Amino acid sequence: MIMERIYITDVAPRDGLQNQSVAVSTEDKFTLISKLVEAGIENAEVTSFVSPKAVPMMSDAAELFPKVQGAFPQLNSFVLVPNLKGLEKAHEAGVKEVAFVLCATEMMNQKNINMSLAQAIESTLQLIEESKRLNIRSRTYISVAFDCPYEGETPLPRVVELAKKVYEAGTDQIVIADTIGSAAPAQVTERLNAILKYIPAEKIVIHLHDTRGMAVANAWAALQCGIRWFDASVGGIGGCPFAPGAAGNMATEDLVLMAEQSGFDTGISLEKLLYAVDHAQQVLDKTLGGGSIKWLRQNVRATTTLNPKTLNF
Ligand code: COA
Ligand code: ZN
Repeated sequence: MIMERIYITDVAPRDGLQNQSVAVSTEDKFTLISKLVEAGIENAEVTSFVSPKAVPMMSDAAELFPKVQGAFPQLNSFVLVPNLKGLEKAHEAGVKEVAFVLCATEMMNQKNINMSLAQAIESTLQLIEESKRLNIRSRTYISVAFDCPYEGETPLPRVVELAKKVYEAGTDQIVIADTIGSAAPAQVTERLNAILKYIPAEKIVIHLHDTRGMAVANAWAALQCGIRWFDASVGGIGGCPFAPGAAGNMATEDLVLMAEQSGFDTGISLEKLLYAVDHAQQVLDKTLGGGSIKWLRQNVRATTTLNPKTLNF
């Protein structure tokens, strides 16, 4: 039987690290990315070209990006940019893939990029246009697509409208983000099905946080809707400095285990992913890992094969 493939973008180096309280050196970020690549990660958000005052952790983007690109030309290395200035800087650094963030509520745009929703829409459409002119691929987040920490539930028609707008503008992927990790599977199904009326599944990525321990259940709901692209963060590192209450992202190891055990191929080695978790733990000086980590540590390293089907369930 040919296993169906799912695709994972590891966002730990950007979404994961941007909210950490300890300083992380460029070298340690590079090592983390190396370990992800060794584990089979083909897509990653490696850094962001943002104001160093807004997110000090990402201030080494211009140094880190060329190192990563030079060492791993096969990796699709996305960088987040908040405005034209960021896009320019990214272009100068040789970036070929960028991520834009369009928050679905007024307050979240104010907090994140100091713009109103109307300004943010205009700016995002301009960024998509400019990236196409520069031959740079883009993924555009619809952030707080479920709930906003400032405004409560985000109206679904607005989420659909924003997703349609960026799709029609020609962004390559639309990332539906549960920024604060408040969604449950029924809402994931409802929201994705509403969006899928207008946008093909292969263009959509689901970005989940695990604040309530429901990220993997939500990922399963997305899989059932036909979504095959997922964001995740090794070790579940994450949180957003502008979204109070947002915990870590869905852990990459949880997603890989769930997907492979359910008959999907991820191209990722769980064993090698654990080395990336180990490195992140050391650097951040805290215990990391998703809900499956204890089981993985007890079972995966003890085996010679990486196929979870052969493990001792
Ligand atoms: N990269 C580096 N520096 C930038 C920049 C970029 N993309 N955009 C603006 N700046 C600098 C400006 O040059 C200015 O510097 P100065 O104070 O030394 O003159 C300073 O940042 C403020 O610029 P301004 O245009 O007035 O922006 P602002 O204060 O309204 O901040 C953003 C807007 C978007 C730059 C800032 O909020 C930001 O970088 N946010 C990042 C948000 C983020 O990463 N969120 C995570 C996504 S979930
Ligand atoms: Zn996120």
